[in-house]
Amino acid sequence: MSSVITKEDTQKEIVRLSDLIDYHSHLYYQKNTTEISDYEFDQLLDKLIHLEDLFPELKSPFSPTQRVGGPVTKEFEAVVHKYPMLSLGNTYSRDDIIEFDKRVAKGLEGQDYEYICELKFDGVAISLTYKKGLLVRAVTRGDGIRGDDVTANAKTIRTLPLKIKNKDSPEEFEVRGEVFLSKEAFRKLNEERADIGEETYVNARNTSSGTLKLHDSSEVARRRLDCYLYSLLGPESDVKTHEESIAKLIDMYFNVSPTFRKCHNVTEIFDYIDEWETRRFKLPVETDGVVIKVNSISQQEELGYTAKSPRWAISYKYKAESATTKLKDITYQVGRTGAITPVAELVPVFLAGTTVKRASLHNANEIARLDLRIGDIVFIEKGGEIIPKVTRVDISKRGYNVPKVTFITNCPECNTPLVRKQGEAVHYCPNEKGCSTQIQGRIEHFIQRKAMNIESLGPETIRGLLDKGLIHDGAGLYTLNFDDLNGLEFTMQTGKDRMMKSRSLREKSAQNIIKAVEKSKSRPFENVLFGIGIRYVGATVSEKLVNHFKTIERIQDAGFDELIEAEDIGERIAHSIESFFKDSDNLNFINKLKYAGLILEKQDDISEIQSGVLNGKTFVVSGTFKNFSRDEIKESVKSHGGIIISSVSAKLDYLLTGEKPGPSKISKAGKLGISMITENEFLEMIATLNQDV
Ligand code: IVH
Repeated sequence: MSSVITKEDTQKEIVRLSDLIDYHSHLYYQKNTTEISDYEFDQLLDKLIHLEDLFPELKSPFSPTQRVGGPVTKEFEAVVHKYPMLSLGNTYSRDDIIEFDKRVAKGLEGQDYEYICELKFDGVAISLTYKKGLLVRAVTRGDGIRGDDVTANAKTIRTLPLKIKNKDSPEEFEVRGEVFLSKEAFRKLNEERADIGEETYVNARNTSSGTLKLHDSSEVARRRLDCYLYSLLGPESDVKTHEESIAKLIDMYFNVSPTFRKCHNVTEIFDYIDEWETRRFKLPVETDGVVIKVNSISQQEELGYTAKSPRWAISYKYKAESATTKLKDITYQVGRTGAITPVAELVPVFLAGTTVKRASLHNANEIARLDLRIGDIVFIEKGGEIIPKVTRVDISKRGYNVPKVTFITNCPECNTPLVRKQGEAVHYCPNEKGCSTQIQGRIEHFIQRKAMNIESLGPETIRGLLDKGLIHDGAGLYTLNFDDLNGLEFTMQTGKDRMMKSRSLREKSAQNIIKAVEKSKSRPFENVLFGIGIRYVGATVSEKLVNHFKTIERIQDAGFDELIEAEDIGERIAHSIESFFKDSDNLNFINKLKYAGLILEKQDDISEIQSGVLNGKTFVVSGTFKNFSRDEIKESVKSHGGIIISSVSAKLDYLLTGEKPGPSKISKAGKLGISMITENEFLEMIATLNQDV
């Protein structure tokens, strides 16, 4: 039972919860430790969201709930930097560092001095302004003089304080640092993109830069940008050294990489450079060099600036390991969505621990940019990550009249003419239904660990089954018997399945596949839905859809408007789902999965259901209630088979209103003629209907 809550009490509780959440976020994201469970943390956040919903006027733009992103920014406002954002002189040579040190010594005319060495993080520079302890503005570097205001996007960075706890922080100050996607966040983002059939991003740096400029801050929040801060600027700063300013940043809970070190001379700088040359690969973020800064702020001022960069700092860049080899050929791979990826086939070359034989060329633009010709000697590099890339051609080694590479015009698998949508870099094979490689790709997606988990089935076996006409899609796997699989021996020539040549091994393998197929029938609905492979429906979206709609029929019947009511389902996903279920082949596929006995409804909730009296009816809940908290009444709707949606549309069945319901919801429901029911009417509804059951 909830008692009457006053606005003053709520205000106090909001402050208490916000502080608590900030404190635990700092522990979790920066100190890698926890004092409460994830569940308890989520409860705090849910409580805060609930209170802010009750009194929207008490919601602060610096609340931890703002990290999830908000409305779409149409255009970024251009902002002039108070202090220009300069760049650093770059060098790859140690001699240049010796020269730099000589210049510093000369400029400081015999004074003692020391350096701070830091790693150079490979992301995008950001400038943050705090006033009265609040983050008021985040601006990109832009041209160094003016940049874009990306405050809404920066606020989604969990390690970035929106409020400074430290009471004696300056009235107004600016902090600078580097925004990046950690190696893990980048890997996850690409994995999700591959899962929904999207082209993967090439490198973390460009992706973090693109992400910071997205107009939809909730998408930015999802991608989990992070940032390291490395400088604190005035106006009336009392710090005497760079080291002190780092300490101050740490004190104010900014995320500072612990990798900096004080160095007294060039030898110590070289030791730092040597040490981090290999250690840096173990860090969570990509780095491409070392920044060497004079420590004393007054000495920095004495040394001053050139037009572009400070005289008191320099950056040393690590050379990416590279090798040269010959481009033998370019082949083309067809993905499950029909996307064509050109691949450089290389004379094998040893580079940074592995032999490189192939490297992705991504798309036709990349081939044109590199101006590749077959037979060229090319440079191969490996950046911080393991994926090798072709960086340029050694033109001096090219013969005369070697023709340019022309991108294929037809699918290498099914010969269908390729298409390239306007504004897109990628070519596609449009023969979705008939191109056997696309069909195979969809089956490989269907059986992967995150979907049906039938990974004992290798690609060669799938190919064999397709070639023999034993299956046409993932559903076909449920019709196979032991003899079908055991009889595949002669179609297998290469790869993982070669081992199956011996009879006993082949039989064992066939049995394993049959077992795994059988076992997959108990995979939960969200895994099955992901495996079905609807474009843009990755693992996370599948989970959201399953939680919201519960059964495949409800997803199928939900039109566009209803789909976008579900959490995190945007227009692009909704369109894709809608058009998937309009296709009769897809419906046929789903029917075959049903017939095979796969789970196509959410199980936990089904057993929790107290009655099915509200089955399929949609509800919007608004206001405060006497007998329930808002979450409790939503749970009650769901436990009787109803569906909670967040906004009023023509398809809504009931608007369930408590005290102080949202006026816009009431008026919209009125206009659309939606039934509005009170808490008591709701209680009666479930009581009467319960008796009927
Ligand atoms: S100090 C005057 N420290 O490198 C500029 N920069 O070319 C002082 N960067 O725009 C910058 N890690 O985006 C500094 N530890 C670090 C850095 C760093 C990365 C980037 C930054 C800057 C660029 C300079």
